[in-house]
Amino acid sequence: MSPRKTPFEYIKQSVENEGYLPTELITRLPKHWRRIGTVGIIELHTSLWPWKEKIGQNYLSGISELSTIMQKVGVTTTTIRTPGLEVLAGNPDTVTLHKELGCKFWIDALRLTFSTGNHAERQRLIKITTEGEQIIDMFACVGNLSVPISVHHPTVEVKGIEINPYAYSFLEKNIQVNHLKDRYQPIFGDNQTHTPINWADRVLLGYFELTPRQLEVALQALKQDQGGILHTHGLTTARQPFNWRQAINKLILEEFPYFKMKDTKQRVIKSIAPGVHHFVDDIHIIRKI
Ligand SMILES: C[S@@+](CC[C@H](N)C(=O)[O-])C[C@H]1O[C@@H](n2cnc3c(N)ncnc32)[C@H](O)[C@@H]1O
Repeated sequence: MSPRKTPFEYIKQSVENEGYLPTELITRLPKHWRRIGTVGIIELHTSLWPWKEKIGQNYLSGISELSTIMQKVGVTTTTIRTPGLEVLAGNPDTVTLHKELGCKFWIDALRLTFSTGNHAERQRLIKITTEGEQIIDMFACVGNLSVPISVHHPTVEVKGIEINPYAYSFLEKNIQVNHLKDRYQPIFGDNQTHTPINWADRVLLGYFELTPRQLEVALQALKQDQGGILHTHGLTTARQPFNWRQAINKLILEEFPYFKMKDTKQRVIKSIAPGVHHFVDDIHIIRKI
């Protein structure tokens, strides 16, 4: 008996059998895909784009648990982080239930961001959070980073701020389906004006383009008599190893003289492109004695 084919072997075989793709391009078919709920996301080399719908159909037939195949066509853009995706095959309704780390995330995979590459960071945040903490997620989206913390720590309180009404509607739903109503407060609005002050032990800043005002608000959000931890995110390239530490230090000197930066740790979350990494800085701020 021949061994059962992997989904990719099945997809490749179907594309070959259907004969629409020039043979020399077969090797460019992507061997991996990302998955959000029942939506699969592939990245096709531009040389394959003339056949993208047919290819999408082959992936849909080859991966039994998926109902939609999308492809990445550009970068995530705009303040509300609209992912650059298009549907190639299957159900055009891209609202799906994604399950991860014992949590349920309802999300529109076409229109909202949920990075599967941030899985390890979601896991790490669960691990480093201690019971009884108060956490603010200034860029909550559908609860990507903060719902897992709340699910795994019943004594932790979270406040999550989201500016996009569509993402906010999913955040509310995810609080409900994960039974977090008593300890996760969603706040609709701009975090520059809607972030609670003097409340948090930990502030999540899962966004690459922070404004000076957002950094100031993050420092105000910390418990002023204790300090806490800010998690800032950024991108590095060989030419631009960027981080927010310098800007935060300057703010501390100018506006929060009773604070000081105790230590910072940097971790790479994922590789975005050759030489470009998404990283997170854990910035521990304490009160000067
Ligand atoms: C890139 S997503 C990140 C989601 C999550 N923090 C993560 O790291 O996976 C950023 C989210 O922040 C929201 N956002 C952007 N600017 C905001 C602001 N000024 N106030 C509140 N939310 C904002 C966007 O609408 C989007 O849902």
